[in-house]
Amino acid sequence: MKRLIYLFILSLFCGNLLAQESPIFIETNNTALVYKTDRQNKLMQVYFGEKLNDADEYSNLFSQNEAYMPAGMDNLYEPAIRLLHNDGNPSLSLKFEGVEVSRVDENVSVTQITLKDDVYPVEVKLFFKAFKNEDVIEAWTEIQHNEKKPVMLTHFASSMLQFDKRDYWLTQFHGDWAKEMLMQESQLTSGIKVIDSKLGTRANKFQAPMFFLSMNEPSTETKGEVVAATLAWTGNFQFNFEITPTNTLRVISGMNPYASEYHLKPNEIFKTPDFIFTYSFEGKGQASRNLHKWAQKYQVLDGEGERLTLLNNWEATYFDFNEDRLVELFDGAKKLGVDLFLLDDGWFANKYPRNNDRAGLGDWQENKEKLPHGIGYLVEQAEAKGIKFGIWIEPEMVNPKSELYENHPDWILKLPNRPEHYSRNQLVLDMANPEVQKFVYDVVDQMLTKHPEIGFIKWDCNREMTNEYSQYLGENQSHIYIDYVKGFYNVMEDLREKYPELPIMLCSGGGGRTDYGAMKYFTEFWPSDNTDAYDRIFIQWAYSYFFPANTICNHITSMGNQSLKFRTDVAMMDKMGYDIRVEEFTDEELAFSQQALKDYDRLKDVIWFGDMYRLISPYEESRAALMYVHESKEKAVFFCFDIYTYRENITNPVKFQGLDPDKKYEVKEINVQEGRRRGPFMGPNAGDSVYSGDYLMKIGYNVRGGREDLSSHVYEITEVN
Ligand code: DGJ
Repeated sequence: MKRLIYLFILSLFCGNLLAQESPIFIETNNTALVYKTDRQNKLMQVYFGEKLNDADEYSNLFSQNEAYMPAGMDNLYEPAIRLLHNDGNPSLSLKFEGVEVSRVDENVSVTQITLKDDVYPVEVKLFFKAFKNEDVIEAWTEIQHNEKKPVMLTHFASSMLQFDKRDYWLTQFHGDWAKEMLMQESQLTSGIKVIDSKLGTRANKFQAPMFFLSMNEPSTETKGEVVAATLAWTGNFQFNFEITPTNTLRVISGMNPYASEYHLKPNEIFKTPDFIFTYSFEGKGQASRNLHKWAQKYQVLDGEGERLTLLNNWEATYFDFNEDRLVELFDGAKKLGVDLFLLDDGWFANKYPRNNDRAGLGDWQENKEKLPHGIGYLVEQAEAKGIKFGIWIEPEMVNPKSELYENHPDWILKLPNRPEHYSRNQLVLDMANPEVQKFVYDVVDQMLTKHPEIGFIKWDCNREMTNEYSQYLGENQSHIYIDYVKGFYNVMEDLREKYPELPIMLCSGGGGRTDYGAMKYFTEFWPSDNTDAYDRIFIQWAYSYFFPANTICNHITSMGNQSLKFRTDVAMMDKMGYDIRVEEFTDEELAFSQQALKDYDRLKDVIWFGDMYRLISPYEESRAALMYVHESKEKAVFFCFDIYTYRENITNPVKFQGLDPDKKYEVKEINVQEGRRRGPFMGPNAGDSVYSGDYLMKIGYNVRGGREDLSSHVYEITEVN
């Protein structure tokens, strides 16, 4: 009764606050996102947080937060959507029209909320795909109209979420080439904070398309309310965080509206990319595990499937190789025990041979001097040695010194009346043009048709767009950012129809394409050209927040001064591979690597598909520790890296997570180099031994590193009876 009186009084003050319709709730196992309509029939987001036991109680909720705020009427903040009608009217007034829920299966449901302008024939549909067990929601929007001529869309968010908390803490990731994904956390202040990119061909470089948002106070790995989110889009993105004077936080996410006014034709559907988010009430660790499970099951191509270990020749040879040298390298791959040899850049073009990055890009025929017998011969030789053969391509790009440039100047993005602007001596092809899409498709299709035995592709994209102008788009130049990415997806869609299973690594001058939009078509990605194992700990650590281990490719190379063991241990954290001159290994190094690959093969299911627990962050201590626990809790793998640059005494044991307290586990060190001391040698545990899960999680495991800087340890943890 008291509550009713309170609501009544409140309604007198707040006018349109109270809902007219029963709530629409989008639920997962632990979270609920709830909408209601107000008296003007506008859709309001009334809640996003922990799911209630009794869904009837959602009807108590109210708020003033319009769910998908249009521009031009009474909105004083950043809008989710803005468009100009045929008559030049720049306003939109969205009213609730209806809701439909469809169940895809036991775990997945899609809620579609339709909003309509009450004067103009414009319809906006908000979609929410909820993954119950993974606690993940994908949100996207479809915009459509029935006016006589195109309307001009200037803002088109995928999602708008609103929070009413005391404080908000944002964790963002920034960087540059070779230093991707550096983490920063700060408290949001009033006004707008924007994280975005304007790179055109990729999302990631300076700012990464993902974030954590912690409520009230910074969350840790195990504590705190935190939303982890990312946009599935391989182009310009924008996240807007606006704190209003009433301390509401409005998070608007989607493609970057920058220079992207879109002329939407009557009845054409403008579909935004998916905004993917999960809400954890137990810190960042749980948020990551939610995303890992969702990604492997629903988003990444063959996410739950096998992955191949490989030897790449990029850092081993760069452009300097010929057929004989490659066949020699196959021996290295065979000796090591990897599944595949990957031939990187430099194998193609004849009029302008690809002997460096200044020529040849675009001319996808084998270079006759380097490869007189063609790819077919290489495939045969690799097969004869019992390994698979993979190949590098970069089909969206062109060097001015190429036949492609000479024959198809109209396929290239470049401004009229301005000098061409190069990056890595190359230009970007116009993927908005269907002829270019066909060319890119054909590059891959013709190669795979001729050599169906090719077992792997590395797809690169080494530059951003600058000074771009599409000869195909004519008056619609502002469509280029969006239509480029759609063109790329069209090609991948067609390729995947014909080649649904071929593993393809996504690469973009290091980690430029690390987004779930592209990962629908790719099995894995290259996180960075920086393969120094010390730096990689930070880079891989950050990617692990959002991507599962089997998608993150880590290669053991000669970069950095760390021991082979350290480099191997770091690479083993995710999907391990090599890019190194195997013939320069000592016998001891070769034997160590062969054993490491065997151990990896035995443990890869735990590393790829186990639950990941980040135990000690390299951002907080001068060491990093993490573990993967198989869902049966019978097996786990634990990694610990000492990253001090001068000796420090770290005595506190690392507390494990995710084990069964009632099980007994043997902890056994692997990746031990012959003649080197095994760790740990002091502390509560003094060697391979058996402990209860309870002990390992309450007291922990003492890993006092080696005597040298940058030491590391990997342990296999096995249930014993
Ligand atoms: C950039 C990639 O990140 C490297 O791994 C390598 O493939 C080069 N491109 C080749 O040009």
